[in-house]
Amino acid sequence: DGDKSSDVVWHQASVSHGDHVKLNGHKAAVLWFTGLSGSGKSTVANAVDLMLHQRQAKTYVLDGDNVRHGLNGDLGFSDIDRVENIRRIGEVAKLFVDAGLLVSSAFISPFIADRNMVREQLAAGQFIEVFIDTPIEICESRDPKGLYKKARAGEIKNFTGIDSVYQLPVKPEVHIKTAGKSIEACAQQVVNYLQEQGYLL
Ligand code: PPS
Repeated sequence: DGDKSSDVVWHQASVSHGDHVKLNGHKAAVLWFTGLSGSGKSTVANAVDLMLHQRQAKTYVLDGDNVRHGLNGDLGFSDIDRVENIRRIGEVAKLFVDAGLLVSSAFISPFIADRNMVREQLAAGQFIEVFIDTPIEICESRDPKGLYKKARAGEIKNFTGIDSVYQLPVKPEVHIKTAGKSIEACAQQVVNYLQEQGYLL
């Protein structure tokens, strides 16, 4: 018989990570911002996101606004809940990276083991730890949500830096000492790292 179609095997066509990267014209990674409450993580992450977006990069910000109110709305601030918070965020970041994006995540992520867990979930170079290093005195003097004041008064328990630990990053890819620097200067330091390391191609 002349019908060959029964011999044709169709491979499940799927768009690979490499295909996403090729189309986007830049590498994918998570910029993992870590630091105390009020250190400026979210602010700098959003400034970085805007700079990258203006350079036509495919980006997304993961922070408390879209994660702690949604996906992780069931979690509080006990050690166990913080571990689960970071685990889930790590999984989501991994999916976004697989989709070819430059993701900026901004969570305190106080425990070294959890940050390393996320790092190990990703391929080499896909996890960029960005330490937003702001002295607690400055964070506390800003106190944008009045939480330090409440923590000092004992109205909030397990507050990071007061009665819950923040484990300092050991070897962050980017270490930003924010004191005396503008938001733009801090964000530029991150973009410069991406540029120098060849992420932006
Ligand atoms: S963590 O430790 O990574 O799970 O924390 P995160 O998801 O980044 O959430 C931190 C924000 O939650 C508010 N908040 C607290 N922070 C620390 N400790 C306690 N007990 C706490 N309770 C509420 C606080 O506004 C943090 O906001 P940021 O943006 O970090 O300043």
